[in-house]
Amino acid sequence: MTTSFANVQQAEAWNGWEGEVWAENPDFYNGMLDGFNDALFDAAAIQPGDRVLDVGCGTGRTTLLAAGRAAGGSVLGVDLSGPMLARAGADAAAQGVTNAVFERGDAQVHPFPDGGFDVAISRGGVMFFADLVAGFANIASGLRPGGRLAVITAMPGAPDGDYARATAVLREHMRGPSPAAQGMMSMVDPARIEEVLAAAGFTGVTMRVVEAMEVLGRDAAHAAENICAMGPVRFNLADLDEAAVRRIRAELRQGLLPFETPRGVSLRARVRLVTATRP
Ligand SMILES: C[S@@+](CC[C@H](N)C(=O)[O-])C[C@H]1O[C@@H](n2cnc3c(N)ncnc32)[C@H](O)[C@@H]1O
Repeated sequence: MTTSFANVQQAEAWNGWEGEVWAENPDFYNGMLDGFNDALFDAAAIQPGDRVLDVGCGTGRTTLLAAGRAAGGSVLGVDLSGPMLARAGADAAAQGVTNAVFERGDAQVHPFPDGGFDVAISRGGVMFFADLVAGFANIASGLRPGGRLAVITAMPGAPDGDYARATAVLREHMRGPSPAAQGMMSMVDPARIEEVLAAAGFTGVTMRVVEAMEVLGRDAAHAAENICAMGPVRFNLADLDEAAVRRIRAELRQGLLPFETPRGVSLRARVRLVTATRP
């Protein structure tokens, strides 16, 4: 099912080259985000038989994990991005998952079945709504009374954190967010999160910072290549000539070398885990 989009600029961005990058490199992005799955799923407390909504499900990693936990129930993954959903659907079929479905839509306005879900989750797909209150109110409308919300939101990297130190060479080039990253930092202020969720009709809001290791590549060279391919970085390096990008990638590799481990290039990262209830 496809419905109208309120977030037209975001829909264009996630259906354009930035969405393609995610769709073509799910292992990279899952390596970056999988460390947060346990905290997300502990908070969501999905039970067998639950009806789950995964907002901004992207290439579907958390949708498929939720489907396993909701055995006998169902999961709906909603996302703006056709290329990412195509990947999600292919993975569901390859894994023989039969209780997950994917719909292309804008979660801010998507017509969710009224009270049709027990739990709504999101791994980083809820910060991009132009109208945050409308987006969360629409998600609330899809939850049954007593239904739970468990979402991960982005946090700014610490200036002395692993990523900032490893990628110091990029700092002077990062002039602004790429089209898909617009809104990424719209939910970093806890007071703002409280305000948005209260206005959207949620109660019992909790928040905590979760730290985990993100794996960015097999070795420093691979991680440097992956980082330069990420939408926000590629966007900001787009005006440089090839030689300059090669020099940056080489310096980036140097910065990443101290983070090489037998499990890959591993950096400490953090997100905010937010939970709430539809009363
Ligand atoms: C940072 S990615 C996270 C993807 C996925 N949750 C994961 O963990 O791999 C953000 C996702 O949110 C989706 N998104 C952004 N705004 C959205 C909206 N208004 N409705 C539905 N999906 C949205 C994007 O298309 C993208 O797939």
